[in-house]
Amino acid sequence: MNPTLETLMLAFSADDRPAIPLSALFLGAEPHEALRHWPDLTGWQPLKPLADAWDRAGFARIDELPAGQWPVVLVLPGKSRDETLLWFALAKDRLEPGGRIVAAMPNTAGASRFENELAQAAGNITSIQKHKCRAFHAMDDGSWNGETLNAWRSLGGFRGIAGTPYLARAGIFSSGHIDPGSLLLGQHLPASLHGRVADLGAGWGFLSDVALRRCPKIERIDLYEADSRALACAERNLACHDRDIRFHWHDVTRALPETYDAILMNPPFHTGQNTDVDLGRAFLTTAAAALKRHGKLHLVANRQLPYEAVLDCLRLAWRKVAEDKTYKVIVAEKR
Ligand SMILES: C[S@@+](CC[C@H](N)C(=O)[O-])C[C@H]1O[C@@H](n2cnc3c(N)ncnc32)[C@H](O)[C@@H]1O
Repeated sequence: MNPTLETLMLAFSADDRPAIPLSALFLGAEPHEALRHWPDLTGWQPLKPLADAWDRAGFARIDELPAGQWPVVLVLPGKSRDETLLWFALAKDRLEPGGRIVAAMPNTAGASRFENELAQAAGNITSIQKHKCRAFHAMDDGSWNGETLNAWRSLGGFRGIAGTPYLARAGIFSSGHIDPGSLLLGQHLPASLHGRVADLGAGWGFLSDVALRRCPKIERIDLYEADSRALACAERNLACHDRDIRFHWHDVTRALPETYDAILMNPPFHTGQNTDVDLGRAFLTTAAAALKRHGKLHLVANRQLPYEAVLDCLRLAWRKVAEDKTYKVIVAEKR
């Protein structure tokens, strides 16, 4: 059960709550049985595993946010402040007059603070609490604060990462800095990397950029990333390289379509708010299956994560090549 989604649906289940609308748009769409009764629902979801779940449940989905107006826009934002406020503005811009934004967030993600922000912009709010989450809805009565909305809209689009040539966007991993773990792995990538290389969970492209700059014998690099917004940033960040670079919106817990001489990764270990070592394990399993014989996996992880045992189970020969107070860099070979 996803408690935030359950709480969002509760917003429609009592007498004094909004009626099920004739049509609705869902930002951050996730499938729920109750939505099957909705006559006309379109979802937008930048995260591939969740987009796949939405598709499997048989709902309609669009890759790019559409223009248009709906009587209801549902919003399930991610963890970041900027993303949440931006999504409120994107939702408001797609409301018909008198329409409603209905959002839900976990308390630990600052639900009450965001509810207050929306209330101040909209001048009205109704809220329920359940499952340690809040669902709140605000109506577009024509009097929303234009200045606040403009400030929220300005959080969209590409933005520079200070002190670097890179671009990122609100809501993606490490949108304001280079991840220190990836920096450590970048420092230990050998110039001898060659042939076909894959970057799993490539984010906005830092590791691929380092590899392309340092390793002239790379013939092709494939970036696999679940967040379509991060992948769009990676395309911009790698546009300076005149090399064979391919971008895949892909769930790395599923098999890769090709095999590789080398694989780079700083695997994720969070799903939403929670630590999820299984996700990292799944990344290692996918990598082991996609390495050619004698292919090498270059990996960085927090020191406490038990990936050495996973590599043993996958029959990869590994050695630790660097560590600092927080991270370890491991190179593993498929024999
Ligand atoms: C720790 S970050 C590393 C990002 C990037 N390599 C870097 O160095 O900045 C892990 C990345 O994996 C992505 N990710 C999470 N789950 C994924 C999945 N199931 N499939 C593909 N990518 C995923 C996240 O969006 C995030 O960009």
